Formats: sequence, structure tokens, C-alpha cells
Amino acid sequence: MEFFEYKNVVIESPNSLEAEAYRKLELNISMKATANKLQVIQCTSATPEDGKTTTCINLAAVYAEKKKKVIILDFDFHRPKIHRAFHKVNDQGFYDYIRNDVDYHDLIVHDESGIDLLLTGKHLSFPHIVLGSQKTRNMIDSLRNEYEYIIVDTPPVLSVTDASIISKIADGVVYVAAYNKTKKDDSKEGLKQLRDNNANIIGGVLANVDVRKTKGYHGYHYYSDSNRQDQ
Ligand SMILES: Nc1ncnc2c1ncn2[C@@H]1O[C@H](COP(=O)(O)OP(=O)(O)OP(=O)(O)O)[C@@H](O)[C@H]1O
Ligand SMILES: [Mg+2]
Repeated sequence: MEFFEYKNVVIESPNSLEAEAYRKLELNISMKATANKLQVIQCTSATPEDGKTTTCINLAAVYAEKKKKVIILDFDFHRPKIHRAFHKVNDQGFYDYIRNDVDYHDLIVHDESGIDLLLTGKHLSFPHIVLGSQKTRNMIDSLRNEYEYIIVDTPPVLSVTDASIISKIADGVVYVAAYNKTKKDDSKEGLKQLRDNNANIIGGVLANVDVRKTKGYHGYHYYSDSNRQDQ
């Protein structure tokens, strides 16, 4: 597998068009949050490697930049990557809360960026059962009192049921598609599955757009879900 360094453009190149596109995503989310508070925000997509984790880390960085208290939960137990994006060791995390009853406060990693992280820790079997459990809900309910924003990284919708299960706990879902990669039919099917689960789709991100080649697009393009009902 090819090794790459995750790029948090909001932190590493705050003046770039890409960083600005993530700020626009945050702005759009805040505008959607008029009646209902959007506090627990899930990022997902149809298929692997669409840019879910990249979206999570950059959106969290926008909140941190605004001095908001933010935590990322790595709820992708199939391909956990948040530790890699922040150069942390994934030696403890959600697994220890679930299986060993460790106080989750003791498992939270504080990154120097101001972003807190709850990593996966050891491999968790049957994550779909665990994620639908009362214990998971209890933790999220408590985190709601401790953080202004909780960003949840999840696996692809078409691979496993985990993302659909988490969408019931999340206040809103940011749906990611990779430009020139995610197949349109897959993206539609994933969106349909989320909608069938009554997920609140708060918008989408078109990731992997090369600003140099694609005139008119920003690095990460936000699109609203409101006009996609019939697509
Ligand atoms: N800075 C970068 N340089 C090169 N490639 C990158 C970079 N950031 C992301 N990628 C590529 O884009 C892909 C998708 O990134 P990301 O991990 O955010 O997607 P994902 O949807 O979370 O993937 P997964 O399904 O594995 O969880 C990566 O597998 C990698 O190939
Ligand atoms: Mg990922």
C-alpha cells in the first residue's frame, strides 16, 4: 500500500483555496443549523478512499481555528486512520471504553492543534453491534455536554452497515464523493441507504478536486443536499 501523509490544509496552508473551501463547509453547516443544533457531525461516503477522513480532520480544524471545543471520534473500525492523520499511536481508545470499562476521558488524546481525539484502540469485533448499543449512546450523550462539536469518522456506507447505524445518533451527515473516482451510481446508492435510515444529510463534499486543473472548483467543493432530491 502506498504511504501518504494526511494533509490538514486548514492547519498547514490556512490561506489556500482548499482551506477556504472547508471554512465554507463549516459556514454551510452553521446555516443549516437554524432550528436544530448540528453538534454531532458524521462524515461518510459510498466507497473506500473517497476522502472521509480528510474531510473529518479538516472540518475539525476549522472548528479549532474558531476556538470551538471539538473532538474527532474514529468510528471506522475497519480502516482506522485518525491516529495516522495526527501522528499518534493507536494503542488505546474506544475499544477500552467498550470492553474494559475505562473512563473515556482517560482515553482522549489532546492534539496540539486544539483538536481532541478518541481513537479506536484495539480491533473491535462486531462494531455494528457496539455502535448501536446504549453504551455508545451514553458516551455520545455525555460528550454533548463537554464539546461544542463532535466529528465522527465512519466507514463507507456500501461496505458495512456501521455508517447507517451511526447516522441515527448523529445530528447531521456530511456525504463525501471523490471527483473522478467515486462512481455516480455508488454515490447515489449510498445516499439512498442513508436516507432510508432517515439520516439528516446536511450536505456534501466533492473531494480530490485539483484546483490547478479544474477551473471553477475549489479544492473541496461543498454542495447542498436540498436540490438533490430527484437525482
Ligand atoms: N495528502 C495526500 N496525499 C496523497 N494522497 C492522499 C492525501 N490525502 C488523501 N490521499 C488519498 O486519498 C485517499 C482517500 O483519503 P481518506 O483516507 O481521507 O479517504 P477515506 O474515505 O477516509 O478512506 P477510507 O475508506 O480508507 O477510510 C487516500 O487513501 C489516499 O490515497
Ligand atoms: Mg477513512
